[in-house]
Amino acid sequence: MAEGVFITFEGIDGVGKSTQAVHLCSVLESLGHLTLHTREPGGTRIGAEIRRILLDPSLQELQPQTEILLYAADRAQHAAQVIQPALADGRIVVCERFIDSSLAYQGFGLGWDRAAIARINSWAVNGLAPRLTIYLDQEPQHALKRAGQDRIEQRTLAYYQRVRSGFLQMAREDSARYVVVDAGGTIAEVSQRILDTVQRRLTQ
Ligand SMILES: Nc1ncnc2c1ncn2[C@@H]1O[C@H](COP(=O)(O)OP(=O)(O)OP(=O)(O)O)[C@@H](O)[C@H]1O
Ligand SMILES: [Mg+2]
Repeated sequence: MAEGVFITFEGIDGVGKSTQAVHLCSVLESLGHLTLHTREPGGTRIGAEIRRILLDPSLQELQPQTEILLYAADRAQHAAQVIQPALADGRIVVCERFIDSSLAYQGFGLGWDRAAIARINSWAVNGLAPRLTIYLDQEPQHALKRAGQDRIEQRTLAYYQRVRSGFLQMAREDSARYVVVDAGGTIAEVSQRILDTVQRRLTQ
């Protein structure tokens, strides 16, 4: 049985991950590959229950550590029930967000212990790691406008700038897995950059 390929898209809110993931899958399908497009939260039944807790505004007492663990728990279900079976089936799995999002948002963005986040998550997914991570890079001001946030507070902007520089640091530290793609320009221009990268990296 052929082993599939695990590709993740990362990047701040509104940068174009969903748009580009859908497009990449349709191009790969047209080239004869079997693909699976998925995203976090992982669309499992247990993941939906976890999501409900994460989004419930009445649960004010939710601790940041609990939040980190809940994201890891959702990821554990998603990896075991969705990603691993598709990889075992020989598919190219294109997933929006994975462990790097927890490292960028809770680690670099909010200052929680990155080594702990990495260890907890890696354990949660049985060591599953992407072969290629496409980081879509753009100034937060531009990406957040795409995400529909017109009025962005300075505090929010500073937070997203930490998240962005965290992603860029991770990309520098793991250049064998990561590729930084400029998310500026038209959807077609960004898709072409992504396709060039995927073809170059996956034929190496
Ligand atoms: N290159 C682009 N130029 C202009 N608009 C774009 C571009 N890419 C995506 N968009 C638009 O920006 C919006 C956000 O894009 P998308 O939903 O793909 O981002 P995302 O990274 O998945 O966001 P989120 O993190 O919120 O899931 C959508 O309306 C999309 O059509
Ligand atoms: Mg999206």
